[in-house]
Amino acid sequence: MQHPKPQHLMLPGPTPLPPSVLQAMASPMLNHRGEVWQELYKEVAAGVHWLCQTEHETVMLAGSGTTGMEAALCNLFSPGEKVLAICQGSFSERFAQMAEVFGLNVTRLSYAWGEAARPEDLSRLLDESGPFKALLLVHNETSTGVLNPLESLAAIARQHGLLTIVDAISSLTTTPLPVDAWGLDVVITASQKGYLAPPGLSMLSLSPAAWAACEQGTLPRYTLDLLLARDYARRAMTPWTPPMPVFQALKAGFELMRHEGLLQIQARHYQLMRAVRAGLQALGMKLLVADERIASRAVTPVYPPAGVDAEDIRKVMHNNYHITLGAGQRKLSGQIFRIGHLGYQDVPTVLGVLGCLEMTLEQLGYPVQPGTATAAAQEALRLS
Ligand SMILES: Cc1ncc(COP(=O)(O)O)c(C=O)c1O
Repeated sequence: MQHPKPQHLMLPGPTPLPPSVLQAMASPMLNHRGEVWQELYKEVAAGVHWLCQTEHETVMLAGSGTTGMEAALCNLFSPGEKVLAICQGSFSERFAQMAEVFGLNVTRLSYAWGEAARPEDLSRLLDESGPFKALLLVHNETSTGVLNPLESLAAIARQHGLLTIVDAISSLTTTPLPVDAWGLDVVITASQKGYLAPPGLSMLSLSPAAWAACEQGTLPRYTLDLLLARDYARRAMTPWTPPMPVFQALKAGFELMRHEGLLQIQARHYQLMRAVRAGLQALGMKLLVADERIASRAVTPVYPPAGVDAEDIRKVMHNNYHITLGAGQRKLSGQIFRIGHLGYQDVPTVLGVLGCLEMTLEQLGYPVQPGTATAAAQEALRLS
């Protein structure tokens, strides 16, 4: 058999997986109504509580991040209820669209792609319009690499009596997410992002107020019934047969993450973000998000240099160096590319990717002094 070349997945999920996680996925199947399974479930649930810094009850649903978003909507609401959705990229737009599909009355607070939400805009809108039942927002808008000021936005929503429903799918682990301290009512995450695990599971935490809303919501739900999932979670089970290899992977991932420590994981993502941004800027490339204070710690979107095609960069990086970069999404399709630095990533990988990017640009006819990006990245690392 031919030895496969190492692949470098520089996406904002799915992420590369550590060897111990890959091995764990090959574990034998279990009886999902038995005690061994319940122990596994409890360990994974404890890990989710630890990462999200929450005492709220959590549930885990088979499916992807979008499954969790759908579950939040179809459990908490009744048709016609008013929600406010912050829209600033493809995932936040998805959340708003989904709410409309479920018959909710959606008001959008929209921003240009690449901008973060401004707390003062939210305050003004809530003072002028409303009342709304809930605020829907994405913590880290993965399509544009924007990190929203979640703590301030959630505080304003709470003052105005709204439930805060957060898609934290690509922010978890990269940046602080103290769910209880920030008063977040529903927080949605997914296994393939910051969890060091493969796709297949969406995890949600719900505050007591959010659970009360589930009791009242009249939208139809069946496999995504959160109250049913909570009943089973209390017995360390899921209502339906769970994706066992994902749970086994999560258990192994949590062992590594607990060993590294929550603050250290966040600090590593911050450093990688700074290194990537510095390297790209040194190459004369324009970042989609110029202000580092609102820049994602999971992914960095960037415009190619003038005269170079974003898709050509992705192709050469993939074909010559086996590095997979993210593409621009929807209205940014073909205009940018995105470097993911989320999950099982480190300084050597990021420096290697920047070095290969230098060579790629050279091959595409854009002159680069070798070492330009890596030197700038090293300098950023020294300073952070
Ligand atoms: C912020 C955000 N929300 C939602 C999703 C959708 O998640 P999934 O593809 O797991 O359904 C993603 C995936 O990239 C995301 O980054």
